[in-house]
Amino acid sequence: MDVIKLGLGGFGTVGSGLAKILDANAGRIEKRLGKRIKITKVLVRDPSKKRAFDLGPDVAFTTDPKELIEGVDIVVELMGGLDTARQLILDAFAHGKHVVTANKHLLAEHGLELFEAAAENNVGLMFEASCAGGIPIVQTLKESLAGDEIVKMLGIMNGTANYILSEMTTKGMDFASALADAQDLGYAEADPTFDIEGLDTAHKLCVLIRMAYGMDYPLADIPIQGITGVTPMDIEYAREFGYRVKLLAHVQEVDGALEAGVHPALVPYTYLLARVGGNYNAVRLEGNAVGSIMLHGQGAGDLPTGSAVLADIMNLARKVEDGCVRPDNTGFGNRPMAKARVLPPEEAESKYYFRFTVSDRTGVMATITKSMADHGVSIAQAVQKGEAGAEGVPLVIISHETPAKAAEAMIAEVDAMDFSVEPCVKFRIL
Ligand SMILES: NC(=O)c1ccc[n+]([C@@H]2O[C@H](COP(=O)([O-])OP(=O)(O)OC[C@H]3O[C@@H](n4cnc5c(N)ncnc54)[C@H](OP(=O)(O)O)[C@@H]3O)[C@@H](O)[C@H]2O)c1
Repeated sequence: MDVIKLGLGGFGTVGSGLAKILDANAGRIEKRLGKRIKITKVLVRDPSKKRAFDLGPDVAFTTDPKELIEGVDIVVELMGGLDTARQLILDAFAHGKHVVTANKHLLAEHGLELFEAAAENNVGLMFEASCAGGIPIVQTLKESLAGDEIVKMLGIMNGTANYILSEMTTKGMDFASALADAQDLGYAEADPTFDIEGLDTAHKLCVLIRMAYGMDYPLADIPIQGITGVTPMDIEYAREFGYRVKLLAHVQEVDGALEAGVHPALVPYTYLLARVGGNYNAVRLEGNAVGSIMLHGQGAGDLPTGSAVLADIMNLARKVEDGCVRPDNTGFGNRPMAKARVLPPEEAESKYYFRFTVSDRTGVMATITKSMADHGVSIAQAVQKGEAGAEGVPLVIISHETPAKAAEAMIAEVDAMDFSVEPCVKFRIL
């Protein structure tokens, strides 16, 4: 039986997950492909390290990226990071090798260069595992919804952030304790910056926008707000108003431009997205023909992510057999991707949650509502709790749809008033 030989760059969580699935599902894979898939070489930093899966004595471990590429059919990049991974992939293309990667950071930063290099060398570049782990969102956009205009896409795409917010919601924990819990359980890295500051979510959004629209929405243009500013108090107020707080990635078309961002947002508790708990991920898509669909599943972990990597490998294995005539890596014929027309963030409209912290004095509410009216921010609901005369009581206001620049101008005015004890906290509402 024919063998598809893999050069595996990285043998950590995802690499060992892939190895486990190749072993456990070998029969099914052979039945589908009529050939075997075998890891024949592995690139790591430390070959002496004990691994989560034993690949057997005939698999060569190397620390030299160039050596990995020789004699294999497909290079699988599961190292993470930018420079070494980028060079490995470019070298693989130059040697006519197809590549599968799970590296969203690399794709967000250098994806256009990689698409171009793959097309020049007529090889495949696949990356299902880079966005939302085991959820098949890349192929859904590229293949299943190929003919739909994507009106809107919303996603919970970071399991660590979702776990932290879920723990804060269900157990009333503060952010720091929920983060420490996530780290103890292995859901959060020792340095969780990318997860909690929204950067990891933004990398995935950047990749998915290209798949949905065939245009590039540069990472630097995506407004990003993480979850470090979400407090138990905000979660409690959100609950009282009928919402759950989620870290959302969103993109939608507004008058021919794209508006995208990553923000903590209040999601009505009746929505499926509000019920995505723990470290799960979900993506809600709205196509102009298909309507609304939602994909839900594990966004990380060795087996779910390995499953997505394997699907890409099998897809490419079929292409190897067909002689691989110009694989369409982007889903848009590998044509250069123009920069999307980006709606300036200040022109985006949303409903908002505002939490002012003010001295409890007569007339404060009236002054704030006047400032809101002056800036065209229309109030839907308001609540003020606190002792009469106490310093720093929260005043929470939910607005109707408001342009971001009007909301910001109003906040600047109110924050400058002498009764403001702390800067206003603002979250979008779905
Ligand atoms: N973990 C997940 O659930 C998940 C989900 C979706 C996507 N991803 C993406 O998948 C990729 C891999 O993640 P992971 O969690 O599997 O990472 P990991 O557990 O840290 O494993 C990384 C592997 O790459 C090797 N490596 C790293 N830098 C290298 C270098 N410069 N030269 C040679 N080898 C190098 C490491 O070698 P040593 O073992 O010798 O140190 C290790 O085997 C990342 O791009 C990540 O963003 C991960």
